[in-house]
Amino acid sequence: MSTVPKNSTSIPERKKVTTRTFHRKKVKREPITVLTAYDYPTALAVDQAGVDSILVGDSLGMVVLGYENTLPVTMDDMIHHCKAVARGAKAALLIGDMPFMSYQVSAQDAVRNAGRFLQEGGMDAVKLEGGRERLDAVRAIVGAGIPVMGHLGLTPQSVHQLGGFRAQGKTAAAAKRLLEDALLLEDAGCFSIVLESVPAQLAEFVSRKLAIPTIGIGAGAGCDGQVLVTHDLLGLFDRFIPRFVKQYANFHAEMQRAFSEYIADVQAKSFPAEEHTVAMKADEWEAFQLSVNSEQ
Ligand code: KIV
Repeated sequence: MSTVPKNSTSIPERKKVTTRTFHRKKVKREPITVLTAYDYPTALAVDQAGVDSILVGDSLGMVVLGYENTLPVTMDDMIHHCKAVARGAKAALLIGDMPFMSYQVSAQDAVRNAGRFLQEGGMDAVKLEGGRERLDAVRAIVGAGIPVMGHLGLTPQSVHQLGGFRAQGKTAAAAKRLLEDALLLEDAGCFSIVLESVPAQLAEFVSRKLAIPTIGIGAGAGCDGQVLVTHDLLGLFDRFIPRFVKQYANFHAEMQRAFSEYIADVQAKSFPAEEHTVAMKADEWEAFQLSVNSEQ
């Protein structure tokens, strides 16, 4: 196959981001940037844009695989997508999201599955949802030398227990429980905690109480960093746009435009054009025709 080289601007090399970078950024009050990615080209673009960390979120169940929620996502789904992301990203800290039922049954299961993210998926760390009820799993995974990110507030794997995708920590009692859970997760060894869909003043308060960085999504500007689901940011998820999302592009509309143009070009026979066609020397073509005609 002949190929046409692409115009690639040279991207400066960056140092690999580690969990120590997260800690340093918190101390220096430099915001930490995190985005999700689920495939090679997105990981390449996000990494080259300079993001601190890429989360291979189990949100892929909804935004890539089209499920209603994240519950059907399996370990094998996650490993498949992590491998692709690891091939594209060079510098960002890579975090694999532990799917539903991969860490809830036993601490042994949790360690074995967390290990797969590093050994097979090429990740640097894992994330799991929940507070006090997950401390054994967190301690066991951290004990195996694997960095763990916690996740509190709206924890999508508990969507049925929460009664839907709804904001959390809105009462004094719920806020106190969330603060306690955050302190327990820090004590169990988490290097960072995602705070999803909680009141901004609570997220800021928790962030000040913790020595480890918080990464907010729908949790206001008082967190130590921010994460968004890339498909929301790019306008690629068709079903709903969470209130806390800022949409930076409308890729769904742009994809539709490009596909419609392609269909129209093929129908009008204006694609493929001369430059998209494989050439053959005239003398070879003549020789071919002679040889075919002489056989008839
Ligand atoms: O799965 C995911 O993408 C997440 C983020 C929303 C934090 O957990």
